[in-house]
Amino acid sequence: MDSETKEALDGFIDLSLITEVLYPVKSGKEATVFACRAHPGTGAEFLAAKVYKHIRDRSFRNDAVYQENRTQMYHNTRVRRAYENGSEFGLEVHFMLWVGQEWEHLTKLHRAGVYVPTPVKQAGRAILMEFYGDEHGPCPMLHQADLTRQLAQDAWQLIKANIEMMLQANFVHGDLSPYNIMIDATDPGDMVRIIDLPQAVDARFNPNAHDLLLRDVETTFRWFEKRGVRDNTKGFTADLWRRWKRAEL
Ligand SMILES: Nc1ncnc2c1ncn2[C@@H]1O[C@H](COP(=O)(O)OP(=O)(O)O)[C@@H](O)[C@H]1O
Ligand SMILES: [Mg+2]
Repeated sequence: MDSETKEALDGFIDLSLITEVLYPVKSGKEATVFACRAHPGTGAEFLAAKVYKHIRDRSFRNDAVYQENRTQMYHNTRVRRAYENGSEFGLEVHFMLWVGQEWEHLTKLHRAGVYVPTPVKQAGRAILMEFYGDEHGPCPMLHQADLTRQLAQDAWQLIKANIEMMLQANFVHGDLSPYNIMIDATDPGDMVRIIDLPQAVDARFNPNAHDLLLRDVETTFRWFEKRGVRDNTKGFTADLWRRWKRAEL
C-alpha cells in the first residue's frame, strides 16, 4: 500500500470511523476499495473505503461526455485552462472534481432512495461508505452472480426501478453494467446494489444523458437476456424519458 493510500485510510481511523483495514477488495484502474472494520460508534460492522489513486498512478478514462455542461468546472478560468491543456495542476483539479462528484452523487441518490451504499464520509481522495459483504468477502457482482431465471427476472425489475428512481432525481448513472451492480442474495426482495457513481450525469444539463440512459439499460439488460429474461428495452427507455420530460416520474 503506498503512503498516500495509508494516509487516507489512517484519516478514517483518526476520525473514529473505522478501527482497522481488513483486506483490499479490488484495485481498479482509478481506485482501490478496502474492506474495513467499522468503529462501533458508526453503528455498522463493516465499511468500504474507496481510495482514488494518485494521478500519476492511474489512467484516466476519457470523461468528456460526462463533463459536458458541468458548470463548476468553468467557475475559474485558470482552473479551466489548466484542465484543458492537461497540465499536472489541471489533472489534479480534474481528479479532485471526480472524487467530489462521486460523493455528491452518492449522497443525493441515497437520499432519493436509490439502492446505493450509505455514504459515511469523504476525506480528500477517499470515500467511506456502507460495505456490501462481510469479513470473508464482498457480495458478488452481477456478472459473477448465479441467479435462477425467476431471481434474474426479479433483479431486472429492481434494476429498472432503480434506473427510474435515479432519473426521478435527474440522474443517469452513465456506467451501469453487470460490473457496477452487486447482488446481495440474502434478501431477494431487495437484492440489487448499485455502485461506482463518479461519472453520473444530470439529465437536465448534459446533452448526452438520453444516449447514456439507453446505453445503461441495454448494457445491463444483455446479461439478463442471456438468462431468458424478456423485455423491450427501447420501449422502456423511451417511455421513461418521455415521462421524465413531462415531469411525470
Ligand atoms: N460499497 C461496497 N461494498 C463492497 N464492495 C465494494 C463496494 N464498492 C465497491 N466495491 C468493490 O470494489 C470494486 C471497485 O469499485 P468501483 O466503485 O466499481 O470502482 P472502479 O470500477 O472505478 O474501480 C467493485 O467492483 C466491488 O467489487
Ligand atoms: Mg466499477
